[in-house]
Amino acid sequence: MSDLQDRMKQAVARAAVDLISDGMVVGLGSGSTAAHMIRFLAERLASGSLRDVLGVTTSFQGEVLASELGIPLKGLNAVDRIDLAIDGADEVDPAFQLIKGGGACHVQEKLVAARADRFVIVVDASKLVTRLNLSFPLPVEVLSGAWRQVQATLMGMGCSSADLRMATRKAGPVVTDQGNLVLDVMVEGGIGDPAALEARINNIPGVLENGLFTGLADRVLVGDIVEGEPAVREMARQV
Ligand code: 5RP
Repeated sequence: MSDLQDRMKQAVARAAVDLISDGMVVGLGSGSTAAHMIRFLAERLASGSLRDVLGVTTSFQGEVLASELGIPLKGLNAVDRIDLAIDGADEVDPAFQLIKGGGACHVQEKLVAARADRFVIVVDASKLVTRLNLSFPLPVEVLSGAWRQVQATLMGMGCSSADLRMATRKAGPVVTDQGNLVLDVMVEGGIGDPAALEARINNIPGVLENGLFTGLADRVLVGDIVEGEPAVREMARQV
């Protein structure tokens, strides 16, 4: 990641933390932008400028980071509400439809997003697309015993590829926080109807969840570079 991209991520993460108020239960997303947000939240709690915030993490990554930084955490089953969830995304289209799961955390991310009263996305400008999946593959989490069967079903549906995600610095595939595998799916020409495909893929036996997030995001904050400096703008939703 370039230094410029990281500065955009930091700027947008800081802006998202400004949306958090005292006493909130906050969903803490995964990935590098969300990690900046967790660090800025910890700073605000340590300085006393925010109080009584409880976090609900969406991954092992977030849980380790937030607990190391002293953010009080509870699990999804132990909270009665989530006021606000803040998370990154891999692609965002003009209707606030998303591809997530670049970090293979989309199962827990979608659970937290679906539970939250408000779901705010934090991205740098490189994540904005006119149509989903023209370049970023759609992650699909599958039971390990079913990956070949699900792969065959996806190819039978007309997907152009459905590759088992392989790990780096570990032999074999990426294993998710839930102990499952991930297929990275491409559709020729991109995804025309994300909501329909989201439901259709989740209906395949052996699929846990896919990384299409439709009808969930309320706001999208975008980190940009304006005149050489990081700037944050709020995206206006189309359709
Ligand atoms: C993880 C995710 C992340 O939010 C997504 O990959 C964006 O990550 P980053 O902020 O590092 O670009 O969905 O499953």
